[in-house]
Amino acid sequence: MLDIAFSDASLPASGTIAILAASGGAPAGALAALDAAVGGALTRAAKATGFGFDAAKTCVVLAPGAGYDRVVLVGLGALDALDGAVAEQAGVAAARALSDAGTSGVVVADGIAPDLAAHVALGVVLGSYRFDSYRTRPRKGDAGPLAAVTVACADPAAAQAAWQPLSAVARGVFLCRDLVSEPANMLRPPEFEQRILALRDLGVEVEVLDRDAMHKLGFGALLGVAQGSDAPPRTVIMRWNGGTDGAAPVAFVGKGVTFDSGGISIKPAAGMDEMKTDMAGAAAVVGTMAALAGRKAKVNAVGVVGLVENMLSGNAQRPGDVVRTAAGQTVEVLNTDAEGRLVLADVLWYTQDRFKPRFMVNLATLTGAIVVSLGVERAGLFSNNDGLAGHLSATGEQTGEKLWRMPMDASYLELLRSDIADLKNIGGRPGGSITAAKFLECFVNDVPWAHLDIAGTAFTSKATSHAPRGATGFGVRLLDRMVGTYYEG
Ligand code: BES
Ligand code: MN
Ligand code: ZN
Repeated sequence: MLDIAFSDASLPASGTIAILAASGGAPAGALAALDAAVGGALTRAAKATGFGFDAAKTCVVLAPGAGYDRVVLVGLGALDALDGAVAEQAGVAAARALSDAGTSGVVVADGIAPDLAAHVALGVVLGSYRFDSYRTRPRKGDAGPLAAVTVACADPAAAQAAWQPLSAVARGVFLCRDLVSEPANMLRPPEFEQRILALRDLGVEVEVLDRDAMHKLGFGALLGVAQGSDAPPRTVIMRWNGGTDGAAPVAFVGKGVTFDSGGISIKPAAGMDEMKTDMAGAAAVVGTMAALAGRKAKVNAVGVVGLVENMLSGNAQRPGDVVRTAAGQTVEVLNTDAEGRLVLADVLWYTQDRFKPRFMVNLATLTGAIVVSLGVERAGLFSNNDGLAGHLSATGEQTGEKLWRMPMDASYLELLRSDIADLKNIGGRPGGSITAAKFLECFVNDVPWAHLDIAGTAFTSKATSHAPRGATGFGVRLLDRMVGTYYEG
């Protein structure tokens, strides 16, 4: 992760500078000083290009004079609308402009409060993310990763203090993105387990259930999905005990299908490679636990991830097979590609049964149908509890990891009645995300629960306001902030 330092707002004498300012009004502070030092080149460039310091918009001014290589003007938008989310987006934009030029730079944020300067730093870090593990040589014209950025602001000590917890969140987001970006041959359940064990360094307790342990617990649905793969499945339990001794924890559960071929109900070849990201729910849970532990959140939290590979083989699960879940209910598996709900059925039941949590939120790249409903802008929110759903929705708007609540009428459950078992694992194309959610609901007992279908938001084909192209880390900032706002202390 890129190094962030904070300094006072005196301007560097040369090099690359990104300078943040709000829209409306004449240039002030550092911007006015820098503009004067370069003979008004900045205001002339802004005028010539119609640049008005709108939020997260940039204007690059090359060699404006006085020894500067380039100055990037970054908009903060209207001051009365400036909040942490806007500051982050400006930071992301600054990082993009800086990394075009080289590996370091200064971001000047002199006109804003210290906590907003810290959010600018968070944006700079999130925008600088790259996954370079498998490059042995740089791409043509690549200046290399941003390695060090100094944020110049009015009160660097206060900004540094506000950055401390945010840096833990950034590390959680990076961990999530790294896991999602890994190719499926490099990250099968045992390797995923190893990556989670590293959280012990942060004070997280980690416990692993192997195939035998899951067999004893009756995880017939999860094990049915796993049986076609040579890679053994795992359920991994993470615990962060930062709250009152013995107080009921909050719980996060993730779908961790390290590759989803569809199984015998095999997927079409085109785009199948993207199914290496079918563990993004589990990655978000791991990233969230890392964020909470990294900033020593005053909460008891458990994260539980079900890790399996959905493959074909002579021993793979067949369409029509019946499995028995840990909850005791039987399921007729009519489509082996509807595997996420089978994995989650056992893990959700186990989590509520063992930990009796205050609430349980699961994340899963569960259905293609949610991408049809909501596109890539919002994840689907399904819940049996209005209070929890409200907390998630509100935090989604604040962090930009936006949700949209979907219906859960009892009548949808009728579509999951099987001829020979308690449930079948598909409900037909109409309302496909909703029947998937109703299936999960059968395994949560009466615990306050929410399911986030992140199939459209975990991975992006073009850069967004918070992430470069590729893995977004969706869910980590959302859940970390929801815990901080409503469940800590
Ligand atoms: N992992 C997929 C869902 C998915 C699709 C995630 C596209 C990301 C992008 C899931 O396991 C799946 O295959 N769902 C099926 C369910 C169907 C067989 C009922 C789907 O959505 O087609
Ligand atoms: Mn599938
Ligand atoms: Zn899947």
